[in-house]
Amino acid sequence: MMVQHGVLWRATPILLFILLLFHNLATSHGESDSNVLLKFKASLENTAALANWTVSKPPCNGWKGVLCYRGNVWGLQLENMGLHGVIDVETLAKLPTLRSVSFKNNDFKGSLPNLTRHSALKTVFLSNNKFSGEIPDNAFYGMRSLKKLHLANNKFSGTIPTTLATVPRLVELALEDNEFEGEIPNFQQKGLIKFNVSNNRLAGRIPQGLSRLHASSFSGNKELCGEPLESCPANYEESWQRRFPETTIGVIAILVGAALITLLGVCIFLVCRKKRYQQQLGGSPELNQMERSTGIASPEGGKPSVRQLTFLKEETEKFDMQELLKSSAEILGSSVFGSTYKAGLKGKKMTVKRYKHMNQVSKEDFNEHMRRLGRINHHNVHPILAFYYKKEEKLFVADFVHNHSLAARLHGNQSLEWRTRLKIVKGVAKGLLYLHHELPSLTPAHGHLKASNVLLDSDFNPLLTDYGLIPILNKDHAEHNMVAYKSPEYKETAKLTKKTDVWCFGHLILEILTGRPSVIDQQPDADLATWLDTSGSGVSVFDQDMAATGNMMKLLKIGLSCCQANLKRRPEIKEVVEMVEEIKDKEFDDDFDSSYASERGMRSSRGLSQDFKPINL
Ligand SMILES: *[C@@H]1O[C@H](CO)[C@@H](O)[C@H](O)[C@H]1NC(C)=O
Ligand SMILES: *[C@@H]1O[C@H](CO)[C@@H](O)[C@H](O)[C@H]1NC(C)=O
Ligand SMILES: *[C@@H]1O[C@H](CO)[C@@H](O)[C@H](O)[C@H]1NC(C)=O
Repeated sequence: MMVQHGVLWRATPILLFILLLFHNLATSHGESDSNVLLKFKASLENTAALANWTVSKPPCNGWKGVLCYRGNVWGLQLENMGLHGVIDVETLAKLPTLRSVSFKNNDFKGSLPNLTRHSALKTVFLSNNKFSGEIPDNAFYGMRSLKKLHLANNKFSGTIPTTLATVPRLVELALEDNEFEGEIPNFQQKGLIKFNVSNNRLAGRIPQGLSRLHASSFSGNKELCGEPLESCPANYEESWQRRFPETTIGVIAILVGAALITLLGVCIFLVCRKKRYQQQLGGSPELNQMERSTGIASPEGGKPSVRQLTFLKEETEKFDMQELLKSSAEILGSSVFGSTYKAGLKGKKMTVKRYKHMNQVSKEDFNEHMRRLGRINHHNVHPILAFYYKKEEKLFVADFVHNHSLAARLHGNQSLEWRTRLKIVKGVAKGLLYLHHELPSLTPAHGHLKASNVLLDSDFNPLLTDYGLIPILNKDHAEHNMVAYKSPEYKETAKLTKKTDVWCFGHLILEILTGRPSVIDQQPDADLATWLDTSGSGVSVFDQDMAATGNMMKLLKIGLSCCQANLKRRPEIKEVVEMVEEIKDKEFDDDFDSSYASERGMRSSRGLSQDFKPINL
């Protein structure tokens, strides 16, 4: 409390707000931890080992097996205690900071506790007990945080729940020495590095996503085959199915039937779309070809014309429109401006973006503007290599970037470390500053900065795209769809400023830190304090993939200052770059953090096993 007041006293309004927010989040527990834990203990039997769980001291002052970090209970490590009875997950769910539980080596019986009631859990160790019975297929539904699950050496039976294959962050799964049967679900998590289903009764082909693992992960199941075990016999799937009773065949027949009907539906839809599209365009042979090469059948076809691409970069290896259109391509996605394709050309992968709603200016002005964009050259800005002009639509050609967009990365299944996130923020800041410098007459120079317009190269260097479009996009379409037009200044004065990009950047920083989709997309008028406060964890506004540090607080502060509606208070992009550059990626090297930590007394994690340490509280 002392520390917090001291800081409050010196704080700027924005820092005050964060501290209040944090304080709020850290203390909004409801029932006290000691009451919750005692209630939990009451559901257990043979609790002699927990004799010193009493109200005389708070749980974080030495209750056996209770693991704390900064005064919050993050783990319960109740191993080798001869415990049995009920694991009362409903009560545990009242500990909002709890992330890890281990009840290894006890005497628990019965079915698996319902873990979905505590979806913030990251580690669950229940190995070496006497749990039994089938695990419902939905048992892991919504467990988005779960990283490690150990159920080894129990008596679980039935099939492995398929929801486990959808747990996005799963890193370790130990199911060995049980009685699981049937096939292994289609695990595809790239992060899954420790996996063991040995000594069960599993059968069938090992899913491809697991073939990289060691054979001993699968040993002791007589009927498993495929890599890394011996390959399955020829026609294996067929003979495998034949051994199943008719019901399975019936289900398969229904599935195949449904698939055929869906396929037919898709074909009809595509043919209709094609027709409509051609009516709209009056038939565009070039784009017909593009669609055909993306697998959309064109009933009429048509000869490509010889209209040419305009190249913006000298060094680009030239190709013509016809070659481009003949290249293999796949649809990467579509946005309000048009579709994006990946095209393979001369052994190189290209991105081709098709824009509609771009007939705001004459062909001459358009070409002139494109030449300006063509001069852009910065390692954090994705260059446009060539374009194709047609009145109704334009194609922009660029190199393909392998690591997808920041949006896909932030909101997909893989985690992003703090160090990487900071690197991305710094790169975006530099790219923005460069654009402002290079396109001084364009206000704002980017205009459409958001996570899906930040591409990541193989080293996670960010590359800005969809910049500089404001002069050429149709105004009404831009107004409805571009991020810049959602800014408070545009709402108030119908004007964009150079600082509008800073506002967009502020929101991007918050998205990067919290791992939650930007508030702009959901409710642009929302109060940011309220938005941050809805963080599901109850502990930290930061993405749970990262351990919160003072440096993140600094970045949060910068993000919030960029979001200020008051243009005078909002910093210039140049100042933002300077502030961001000062932040280091190392943790715990910060005044605020270390004084806070020492005041509260950081508890050592002595005696914890390697596997059981505070992850990302
Ligand atoms: C409770 O027991 C544990 C282990 O026996 C011990 O380390 C701890 O100091 C005890 N706590 C209290 C408050 O006595
Ligand atoms: C677990 O609890 C959730 C919600 O509390 C419920 O929807 C679900 O059906 C339960 N699952 C099982 C297997 O009991
Ligand atoms: C899997 O578990 C079995 C049985 O406990 C063990 O022999 C094997 O070494 C384990 N394999 C891996 C990869 O952990």
